[in-house]
Amino acid sequence: MKIIVLGATGLVGRAVAAALEPRHDVIAVSRASPVSADLRDPASLDALFGEPADALVCCAANVPLRPLAELTDEQVLDDLRGKLLGQVALARRAAAHLGDGGSITLTGGTFDEPVPGSGLGALVNAGLEGFVRSAAAELPRGLRINVVSPGWITETLEAMGEQGGTPVAVVAEAYRALVEGDATGTTVRPR
Ligand SMILES: NC(=O)c1ccc[n+]([C@@H]2O[C@H](COP(=O)([O-])OP(=O)(O)OC[C@H]3O[C@@H](n4cnc5c(N)ncnc54)[C@H](OP(=O)(O)O)[C@@H]3O)[C@@H](O)[C@H]2O)c1
Repeated sequence: MKIIVLGATGLVGRAVAAALEPRHDVIAVSRASPVSADLRDPASLDALFGEPADALVCCAANVPLRPLAELTDEQVLDDLRGKLLGQVALARRAAAHLGDGGSITLTGGTFDEPVPGSGLGALVNAGLEGFVRSAAAELPRGLRINVVSPGWITETLEAMGEQGGTPVAVVAEAYRALVEGDATGTTVRPR
């Protein structure tokens, strides 16, 4: 399959590309890659689908932890525009352009316990899970859509001087299984 991976230079995206590359043709995309796109720039998302592709994986963008009391209206909108609205915009374009039977795999996240500053991230993640569940029923031509919602990833915790979490290779395997499988409308929480 020809698979577009957006966010392919990040921790998750690099592992996903590595998991897919042995069997598929991966097009690695980020804002700074030779093939580039920005979730906040609709024209750049249109340009991604100039060539035929069979699947899209998005592991781009992030919602930083921000204390509720310090949030501004502008920050809320900016975070929604990237990870939530950007992935919805991307999924709509993928649904129009991917080949029959293709798949869309988005990235959310899971806070097992509420963490200070996680309200906006939790909103975005819940929105993505609801979007995928409902959109799956409307997709034409056998297209599928799912979201991977990891908890903390081991390598990220290690960089923060902490332990635990799920190794990024285990998280990447969840993406590979969704791309190669037949699930749709699901949220997968790799453990
Ligand atoms: N790491 C964790 O513990 C963890 C846990 C749960 C969920 N997640 C989610 O997993 C996803 C990936 O996380 P990560 O740790 O791999 O992040 P990361 O290492 O910061 O990588 C982010 C990737 O997305 C690209 N990117 C950022 N903003 C973008 C935009 N507006 N448009 C297009 N590309 C953009 C980055 O490249 P450029 O900057 O060059 O564009 C990079 O390739 C995020 O949605 C994150 O919330 C991560």
